[in-house]
Amino acid sequence: MTKYLVTSALPYINGIKHLGNLVGSMLPADVYSRFLRQIGEDVLFICATDEHGTPAELAALEKNQDVETFCTEQHEVQKDIYTRFNLSFDHFGRSSSDHNLELTQHFCKKLMENGLIEERVIKQVYSVDDGRFLPDRYIVGTCPHCGYEAARGDQCENCTRVLDPTDLIKPRSAVSGSSNLEIKDSKHLFLKLPAMEKDLAKFIDEHEAEWPVVVTSIARKWLKEGLRERCITRDLKWGIPVPCDGFDGKVFYVWFDAPIEYIGATAEWADKDKEHRNWKDWWYDAKDVKYTEFMAKDNIPFHTIMFPATLLGSKEPWKKVDYIKGFNWLTFYGGKFSTSQKRGIFTNQALDEFEPDYWRYWLMANAPENSDSSFTFSGFASTINKDLNDVLGNFVNRVLKMTASKLGPEVPNKAEFTQMDKDFFKVLGEHIDAYTKYLKELEFRKALVELRAIWVEGNNYLTAAAPWTVIKEDKERASTILNIAINVIRLYGVLSAPVIPSTCARIMDLLNIENASYAWPEKDLEKELSKVEVGHKFNVPEAPLFQKVMDERVAELCEKYGADPE
Ligand code: 2FM
Ligand code: ZN
Repeated sequence: MTKYLVTSALPYINGIKHLGNLVGSMLPADVYSRFLRQIGEDVLFICATDEHGTPAELAALEKNQDVETFCTEQHEVQKDIYTRFNLSFDHFGRSSSDHNLELTQHFCKKLMENGLIEERVIKQVYSVDDGRFLPDRYIVGTCPHCGYEAARGDQCENCTRVLDPTDLIKPRSAVSGSSNLEIKDSKHLFLKLPAMEKDLAKFIDEHEAEWPVVVTSIARKWLKEGLRERCITRDLKWGIPVPCDGFDGKVFYVWFDAPIEYIGATAEWADKDKEHRNWKDWWYDAKDVKYTEFMAKDNIPFHTIMFPATLLGSKEPWKKVDYIKGFNWLTFYGGKFSTSQKRGIFTNQALDEFEPDYWRYWLMANAPENSDSSFTFSGFASTINKDLNDVLGNFVNRVLKMTASKLGPEVPNKAEFTQMDKDFFKVLGEHIDAYTKYLKELEFRKALVELRAIWVEGNNYLTAAAPWTVIKEDKERASTILNIAINVIRLYGVLSAPVIPSTCARIMDLLNIENASYAWPEKDLEKELSKVEVGHKFNVPEAPLFQKVMDERVAELCEKYGADPE
């Protein structure tokens, strides 16, 4: 039997992530993992915080913390947010783990043995007053092309030209502002990507037909431009030490060790139950594993070229990705989410404003799959009001309240199904098939259109069958309609669970179903719709499942989060 390995790009440790980060990797990976579990697959869903590199060091410095304490604290902060978003990781690890250290050093040794790493001496900028080497982007100065005074050593933000730190006029440290800079020679390791070009091209070729265009086009672009040797080490203190002579005080480049943490985190997961779990079953010579990675488009080169190069170059049978789900950007009113300018919504703020399912639903319905998509509060309100409130929430509320008031709080009797009922089961079945197919294909927007259609069909059925009128003359028929409708509520609880799991738990509570099974519905819908049996007591909703987001609230939110009124 196939086993499913799912990884989400590792969120960087330097600060709380925004909604764009969530929808670009962790959330869709969660929806997919939940769906796979519901259809009965063996799933391992792995994520971790990505903790090395200069931004982590600088964020710690800003908080007056040593970097280890900072990372430990921020790991917990992020973990708590993801728990509240109901992300069902089997393990949420840390790239600073011992396993990652061991594995990263192992890969480096293998790559060396296979002649795929070379040493080079390069010139690096050293800041005397900061007592450290500075990566290019932490050197600022005046752009020689446009005169912009805060241009970074790697690129001028103003004219977008790519720069070298030595191009800058009046260069200074972005950390301290000091201009006491020296250029020093420093020895580094380079991964010989050109030597692996053929193998990498073959790897991409094998997946070309299947992977999303956003993924293959970026990989192709890299290959077409010609691969260059890439420096995989840095002059930094914080990171995984380079296990080679003459490399004291140097660590691996964060992008070298981060993807290896997918394996490291699996080993951390296995440590929690050594008797039953073996990380190698998922990663080493694991022919029965189907491995899917989720990420935003800026991560694609690292997962289509760099990480596969590490794995292929080891000449060991490491599991390589089978499917990459890449995402475009989620924008905030068409512009970038920006931490420094306080534009956009961060995951912790989102949870302060609304229940997680409101976000989960909106984000998945508007996932930036084939192009960028834009968040606006009015668009958000309209989706919540129409889909969650008017369609799903209203159906659940209406059916349970009406049944309780007209027939009592138990599932009513059912008689023979009519043609109308059978027609309803047929369309419902068609939408469920389409929904299932799209989830399997990781076409999330299309899947959510089907999920909504599944909810709409319930309302259409209720309107057409009109039990509130029928009951005046034919109680048995009205009972049958409401029996079906209550069973449809349970079905909605199952089908909606990948996307809005806490709402589905509430639905099961309302139906008074203990230890509810979320097993995916069987083909035979009539059977599926008789699982809540006649006479079963249910609870009458005290409040609707969702609250509408009113215009005043939209205006308040726009003001609070710096959104331009539309
Ligand atoms: O882009 C980012 O935020 C990175 N931290 C993603 C790393 S993904 C993986 F390779 F670890
Ligand atoms: Zn410029």
